[in-house]
Amino acid sequence: MSISKGHFIVFEGIDGSGKTTQINLLKKHIEANNFICHETKEPTDGVVGSLLRQCLAGKVQMDETALAALFAADRLDHILNDKDGLIKKLEKGISVISDRYILSTYAYQSVKVPLKWVMDLNSMAAGKLRPDCHIFIDIDPDIALNRIAKGRESTELFENKKRLTEVRNRYFDLFKQFKDTENIIIVDGMQRIEKVSDDIWKKVSGYFTTGGET
Ligand code: TYD
Repeated sequence: MSISKGHFIVFEGIDGSGKTTQINLLKKHIEANNFICHETKEPTDGVVGSLLRQCLAGKVQMDETALAALFAADRLDHILNDKDGLIKKLEKGISVISDRYILSTYAYQSVKVPLKWVMDLNSMAAGKLRPDCHIFIDIDPDIALNRIAKGRESTELFENKKRLTEVRNRYFDLFKQFKDTENIIIVDGMQRIEKVSDDIWKKVSGYFTTGGET
């Protein structure tokens, strides 16, 4: 008997939208339903991802076109790595929740680099691994920045009002562009944590009932 493939769920949103909290809650729901769930993120903890984190922290300065290429390279290794790549995990029946995926690069990098080129850079990853759904936690950039300021002493490269507002607008342009081809779930991230979590579970629970699909 062949093992059925795991589900691939991606969280998206501007910085400070509360993805981490919601990913942890969703993982608990999935595991309570007896499914194996692996939690991951982009940028990854790998070599390219670590370099990206240094750029985001302002410790290494890099041109935005090169950054876009690094995000694409980090993603390819994330999904294809022979040892612990996501495609292998999914094939083994493990479900995966990723904090960010391709739409993050489209939304963040297209502010400074042409979207068409960014999409070309990601075409290999897009062709190899498509999420079952993208969950976008929507939040006002001012509120996101307040949350970031409360939780941390320093801010990262894109954590300013102008960039986050542009990124949020780009996400919505992308949702229009991909409405017929991608499963995009938009959740109101300004509600109570439990309500946001309930809204998400209602949308994805169908993947985690035996034999079910939403
Ligand atoms: P984020 O995912 O919010 O994680 P953390 O809160 O742990 O720092 O931050 C990662 C940053 O990287 C965020 O500003 C978005 C940015 N980013 C891109 O610009 N492009 C990408 O493709 C990805 C994956 C992230």
